[in-house]
Amino acid sequence: MNINIELLKEFEKTLDTIHPERGKIPIKILGFGEISLVFEILDDPAHLAYKRIPIFDNEKQVKRHIWAYNEYCKILSEEIGLNLPEHDAIWFKNDKDEIKFYCIQQKIDPKAVGNKVIHHVSDNEIETLIILVMRELKKVWTLNRENPNLDVGLDGQISNFVVVNYDHNNPKVYDTSELLYLDTSTPLFRKNNIEAMEAELFLKSAPSFLRFLIKALFVQEVVDRYYDWRLVAIDLIANFFKEQKPEIIPRLIRRINQFYREEAKEFEIEPITFEEVYKYYKNDKMIWVIFQNARRLDRFIKTKLFKKIYDFYLPEKIER
Ligand SMILES: Nc1ncnc2c1ncn2[C@@H]1O[C@H](COP(=O)(O)OP(=O)(O)OP(=O)(O)O)[C@@H](O)[C@H]1O
Ligand SMILES: [Mg+2]
Repeated sequence: MNINIELLKEFEKTLDTIHPERGKIPIKILGFGEISLVFEILDDPAHLAYKRIPIFDNEKQVKRHIWAYNEYCKILSEEIGLNLPEHDAIWFKNDKDEIKFYCIQQKIDPKAVGNKVIHHVSDNEIETLIILVMRELKKVWTLNRENPNLDVGLDGQISNFVVVNYDHNNPKVYDTSELLYLDTSTPLFRKNNIEAMEAELFLKSAPSFLRFLIKALFVQEVVDRYYDWRLVAIDLIANFFKEQKPEIIPRLIRRINQFYREEAKEFEIEPITFEEVYKYYKNDKMIWVIFQNARRLDRFIKTKLFKKIYDFYLPEKIER
């Protein structure tokens, strides 16, 4: 990939993480997650999506992470057969000797990302999309079944899949549509039960005053979730609460249960119930709201009281 590191160094120099679009290098935000900010650089002829992940304290950490990232992408694409956008990872040190890390992907049409697509196609097509996602997930858990020493996890959220050849002027999802998987920057795999990603890094976006609590209460559970196909599917369905489309959920549950019965019976997965999905959504929403508020407080303490830099981007309140 043709990556202009100098441009990113320049970007970092004037970056204000509260208003990332106001720096000297003009960018447009494409998305964000718990820890990351995804953006494009305007007028960039290379059409890249830059995912900024500010969690590394030293070279050893970032080098291990790049190893895990490359390995994860290789397993997903070569061994499992998922389609990934062209990608790379880079890091450098800024003037203050701090580590700046970016995952970079070919930029895809933001309108073709799953959580956008579901608002423009019919219910039948949403069902089709969900089954296409389930088939991608099946590839992952088939590899897991065949390899007792390897566990691969995946974040099956609808916002992590892209419909290939999607035309937003004529929005359609077909049985034969192909999907791309975007969310590769958190390497989720274990060899002989050893987590490839340094466990501490999962906590990096948590406010320091809560870290010990979160570590004690949630981290393992939240990480384990991505390794359990049934929980990944529940998470996928619960997205539809967040996307304000709860009416389609019973239908999706029926279809996914049918999928497990017919297309994945060897996995012997227990049928998913509506109550479970609802409970999961409520619980997840509560954790998320507490977490976001704690992070705002953390940001306030760091920036206003201690005049330090808060390196994460915090989205405004979003409807969930
Ligand atoms: N290559 C890309 N082209 C266009 N948009 C993208 C690309 N990669 C990511 N995005 C947008 O950014 C959003 C978040 O990206 P991604 O899923 O990789 O991060 P995340 O895992 O959700 O974040 P985090 O790891 O911090 O929790 C995507 O849902 C998508 O809308
Ligand atoms: Mg994501």
